[in-house]
Amino acid sequence: PAPHHRTERLDQDYDGIRRAARLLRQGGLVAFGTETVYGLGGLATAQKTVERIFQAKGRPSFNPLISHFAAAEAAFAEADMAIPLRDMAYDLARRFWPGPLTLILPRHAESRLCPAVTAGLDTLAVRVPKGRAVEELLRLTDQPIAAPSANRSGRVSPSTAHHVLDELEGRIDAVLDTGPCQVGLESTVLDLTGTIPVLRRPGGVTLEELQEVCGPITVADHETADGQNHRPSAPGQLTSHYAPSLPVRLNATHIQPHEAFLTFGEQTAEGATPALSVNLSHSGNVEEAARRLFAGLRQLDRAATRHGLTTIAVAPLPENGLGRALKDRLKRAAAPRPAEPASPSA
Ligand code: TXA
Ligand code: MG
Repeated sequence: PAPHHRTERLDQDYDGIRRAARLLRQGGLVAFGTETVYGLGGLATAQKTVERIFQAKGRPSFNPLISHFAAAEAAFAEADMAIPLRDMAYDLARRFWPGPLTLILPRHAESRLCPAVTAGLDTLAVRVPKGRAVEELLRLTDQPIAAPSANRSGRVSPSTAHHVLDELEGRIDAVLDTGPCQVGLESTVLDLTGTIPVLRRPGGVTLEELQEVCGPITVADHETADGQNHRPSAPGQLTSHYAPSLPVRLNATHIQPHEAFLTFGEQTAEGATPALSVNLSHSGNVEEAARRLFAGLRQLDRAATRHGLTTIAVAPLPENGLGRALKDRLKRAAAPRPAEPASPSA
């Protein structure tokens, strides 16, 4: 569909945040930065607004959204939690909120969230994000705000307002420019609806940190949750996701002449001298690498096409801590695209 109108660009000063809150309260679509990535926000209680979010992103309606709140009490008011679960949820909230953690909880029968937000499921995803502007925005709005990452469905998540406008200009009412995101990868999604917590998406809070609070955690087997028709329990785990337009090759230690190189720390590759390379962190700092990943992928994607390169080769990356989330996003970027022949397991 044709863009409906111009997207307002708002500064993160008092007037900008107030304007953003007002647009949200009126049912508008406003993108804003969180500590993880930019979200495409709208009232989670308004069915029409939520439908517009799905449209603007081109997101399949069976993939539910995260609702954002200013405080844990407001988030948990939408959930139906008995004692052991309640205690664990509050322990997690005390330790990690505001911050990059999303909790999947049983939905309260009288939850105000409209059915489209949760894709009709009897569970919901809630989080209290961190950041001066987003915290102020959520306080002023004083309503649950549904916000998927502010990218077109299946593309790389945005970590600056500029990335948001690249894909959503004219499709949303405003973007609140809160600067580059501090974490740079999406929140960790932890499912508390079963007997043992399940890690559905690795993200800004590490598995190791969660285990300190929860004890044992099952790590969801993402490889089984793929395919467009299958309804995975965390549909963000659809195999191909975070995809730049060029194919991505992982664990590259040898560079081919047609490849751009995405590297980390002091790693160099054998083979061709890459015409184009981006180092996510020269000092080998995984936090810095996470912060720069999505911008790095976008940058390489654009420049590689200009240089006539056809693949992004990625150096081996750390496996633990934030490395788990980093690797997850890159694996998804490297996965077969829907237009390509599916692998036997897809
Ligand atoms: O960091 C983030 O989480 C960002 C910022 C904007 O908060 N948001 C984000 O939203 O990444 P999105 O829509 O791109 O990813 C939400 C993930 C998806 O994988 C979705 O399937 C999962 O959360 N999810 C949402 N509700 C769920 C539910 N009830 N059960 C299982 N998974 C759910
Ligand atoms: Mg997303």
